[in-house]
Amino acid sequence: MDQLKRQAAARALEDVRDGMQLGLGTGSTAKHFVELLGERVRAGLKVIGVPTSEATRLDALRCGVPLTTLDEIDHLDITVDGADEIDPELNLIKGGGGALLREKIVAAASDRMIVIADDTKWVPTLGRFPLPVEVIPFGLGATRRAIEKAFAECGVSGQMAVRNGKDGHVFVTDGGHWIVDAQLEMIEDPARLATALSAIPGVVEHGLFIGLASSAVLAGGEGIRVIERRKPKGD
Ligand code: A5P
Repeated sequence: MDQLKRQAAARALEDVRDGMQLGLGTGSTAKHFVELLGERVRAGLKVIGVPTSEATRLDALRCGVPLTTLDEIDHLDITVDGADEIDPELNLIKGGGGALLREKIVAAASDRMIVIADDTKWVPTLGRFPLPVEVIPFGLGATRRAIEKAFAECGVSGQMAVRNGKDGHVFVTDGGHWIVDAQLEMIEDPARLATALSAIPGVVEHGLFIGLASSAVLAGGEGIRVIERRKPKGD
């Protein structure tokens, strides 16, 4: 599996050109991309990256990839990031690693987002992977009720749980928020659910990435498949 993730990362690296400004994703697949990018940088490639998490920032520094911020540059050429689920419209569930907020800000600031994954992430319908919703701890009870209402309006339901970290304590994101994971099984209309969740005051961000991915690089036992998004970015 790790080999497949690295193959997908290597294929995405083929699109990187000298002088590019890159968004650097988070997770085990994106980590391969950062490592391979570091090898190219050490061989003379000139790029600059914006990391989507503290973990990726540290990885990039370790690999010698020069970093900047979205305050210092006005756009990114490509973001390369992993995903937890990818559907045929290239809608995604992200946030299994808890970095969804920065990942979405960086993806939205990019001309192109390339999703890299092993092909087990490819699904006909999103929802089997629990949907991460990043929330403000204040007023969580009210926010949970509003999320449940949004679920009902969008025809989905399922258990919700505040995410804990490996240490058994509540997981805190890089932005200082909490994450609620919702086990929805099947999200028939992810765009509608994304809009409904975004309208809730205590929700900072959610893991539905709609219309952001330009292409997906899927590595499987039979090789690599590149799927291009049919509609323009943002639609
Ligand atoms: C991080 O918050 C996530 O969005 C990751 O991109 C996603 O969970 C994929 O991670 P892996 O590449 O480790 O499966």
